[in-house]
Amino acid sequence: MNQPEQTEPIGMIYGLKRVLRYGLPYWKIILVTILCMAVYSVSLNGRAYLIKPFLEEVIIPATEMSRASGLGSLDLSKIKGEVSEDQSAEERAKLTAVLEQKLVFLIGIALAVVGMIPLMSFFKGYGSSYVVARMVRDLQCDLCDKLLRMPLAYHTKARKGEIFARLNSDVARSAESFRLLFGELIQESLTLLVGVGAMVYLSWQLTLLIALVMPPLVLIVVKFGKKVRKRSLKRQEKVGDQMGSMLQMFSGIKVVKAFRMEDTESDRFRSVNEELFRREMKVVKTDEMSKSFTELFNNFTYILFMAVGIYAIMKAMLGLTLPVLVAFLGLATTLYRPVKNLSRAYNKVSDSMAGIQRVTEILDLESETEEQEGMEVLRGIREEIRLEKVGFSYDGDQKVLEDISLEIDKGQTVALVGKTGVGKTTLSDLIPRFYDPTEGRILVDGSDIRDFSRDSLLRHIAVVTQDPFLFDTSVEENIRYGRLDATDEEIIEAARAAFIHDRILALPEGYKTRVGDRGTRLSGGERQRITIARAILRNPSILILDEATSSLDAESEQWVKKAIDNLMEGRTTVAIAHRLSTIRNADKIVVLEKGRISMMGQHEELLQMEGLYRELCALQFEQDDTGPISNSGPA
Ligand SMILES: Nc1ncnc2c1ncn2[C@@H]1O[C@H](COP(=O)(O)OP(=O)(O)OP(=O)(O)O)[C@@H](O)[C@H]1O
Ligand SMILES: [Mg+2]
Repeated sequence: MNQPEQTEPIGMIYGLKRVLRYGLPYWKIILVTILCMAVYSVSLNGRAYLIKPFLEEVIIPATEMSRASGLGSLDLSKIKGEVSEDQSAEERAKLTAVLEQKLVFLIGIALAVVGMIPLMSFFKGYGSSYVVARMVRDLQCDLCDKLLRMPLAYHTKARKGEIFARLNSDVARSAESFRLLFGELIQESLTLLVGVGAMVYLSWQLTLLIALVMPPLVLIVVKFGKKVRKRSLKRQEKVGDQMGSMLQMFSGIKVVKAFRMEDTESDRFRSVNEELFRREMKVVKTDEMSKSFTELFNNFTYILFMAVGIYAIMKAMLGLTLPVLVAFLGLATTLYRPVKNLSRAYNKVSDSMAGIQRVTEILDLESETEEQEGMEVLRGIREEIRLEKVGFSYDGDQKVLEDISLEIDKGQTVALVGKTGVGKTTLSDLIPRFYDPTEGRILVDGSDIRDFSRDSLLRHIAVVTQDPFLFDTSVEENIRYGRLDATDEEIIEAARAAFIHDRILALPEGYKTRVGDRGTRLSGGERQRITIARAILRNPSILILDEATSSLDAESEQWVKKAIDNLMEGRTTVAIAHRLSTIRNADKIVVLEKGRISMMGQHEELLQMEGLYRELCALQFEQDDTGPISNSGPA
């Protein structure tokens, strides 16, 4: 599959559904969090609403009372119906006491409401962050699993930077969506709902004004949101380029230094970064414009409410009173933030949709043919491996291998020989099913290898690749990669058999020495022998040996040769051999030319015939007796 270039936005709902599924296991925490959010919303709006009872029950009566007492003609009936006109100072004191009581009661409620706000804020914040963090980790693990299980063909095509970008930057962007959905979006919607409810209760006529202002606001938000999403997708593509550029640069640092390309690489990185910056700013611009418009609308609405409200009070319309208007405007101020945040949330979700899209693309990739129930289990070779008219093409167009028929008997060594690029590595990759043949089939004891479970097939195969790869851990762990349950003694034994034990002991920390990225702290010969020890430890019945061409010094060469002899002993081996010694002893030598088998036989037989084999041998004898044979030949 060739996803990296695809930029068509997927459905927003589909993408969200795909990733929000990761929230399902945490539904209980989500539920409690939403509950906290609801209490928070009620408290927040309650705080604004409280001004009304304060005004109506305490402040206004108190003001009127003091004004009346100052004039000496108190109209107490205005304050309390049950109080008559000729009330004495004694009863005024009683009334004051009632007001005081009410004040204390209201302050108590206010304190409780205000106390709820930080408490609920903590729990909802913690809860939603917990869920988001869990979802992000789960998603990342799934992505990693998915990528690990993708066929080799995917990885040889996909760019590493692109993969890293999707695992990091895009997951982070998706997390932004989670955070919004399980945070702001729910919270602010609740606050808005409660607030608007309170507003309707106070004055439905004023609230109706919202209905007039809303449509243009929503229109603006949606329009900007779409734009943000498109631009964000373009930016995320550049993030892949940026990561790729970094990876390339530093994994090839030696080449960079050798050719004095520091400045060139630096310039290249700068220009990738510059482009990323430009695309980022385009997203920011759209986002900021959208924010400003929302801001304008919010303020406009506030003034509209105020103007209409004051006018209505002046004209004694709509049944509006001062306490109602003040509380209403207070609510409007409280709701200012949710409205702003909700519209921004839409933009942010649009922005992170690009990340979600790119993450979903990976989740939706088709992985290696899954193991099916009842697949055969390979228990080792009894007779032979047989290739029947095998053909292969990497791109479905140009054939690398054609019509390869070959038998490899149990315990035999078959050597593949041919000029560079003829398809030797490709052919050997078909046996462990790194790739499947595009034509023909490969059989082990008469059964197609595609019928065996991958697990059981690979349990019997060890591959020593052309480019010896070590992980940046200890020597011991690198060897243990061959078989995880191996004991320390078995590891040492394998190292001895690979003639690397003494060298390992001479390292600063022996078997615990870290080998550096890709094993760079070791020499080429050491690296090779460690990979051989790894294969010996696996103790496979089938061995695929792609000898490296890197010329080693005579001594190193000797040890590698001995290590290989030990490794090959008693195994069915496909050797891509560059050393005449390996080839000479092979039970069968297969000469590949133009993707086909041109000659097959033993060393002596082939030497008798005219053809490529004789040429290659002659070429090697010219060099020396044991040097590389094939790949150094002219391409
Ligand atoms: N992943 C790939 N995608 C596309 N083409 C590839 C891929 N790997 C190899 N090829 C092509 O397939 C052909 C065979 O490559 P292969 O690596 O099998 O050659 P080889 O015989 O092992 O060469 P060498 O002796 O140099 O190792 C080459 O032309 C190469 O360019
Ligand atoms: Mg090769």
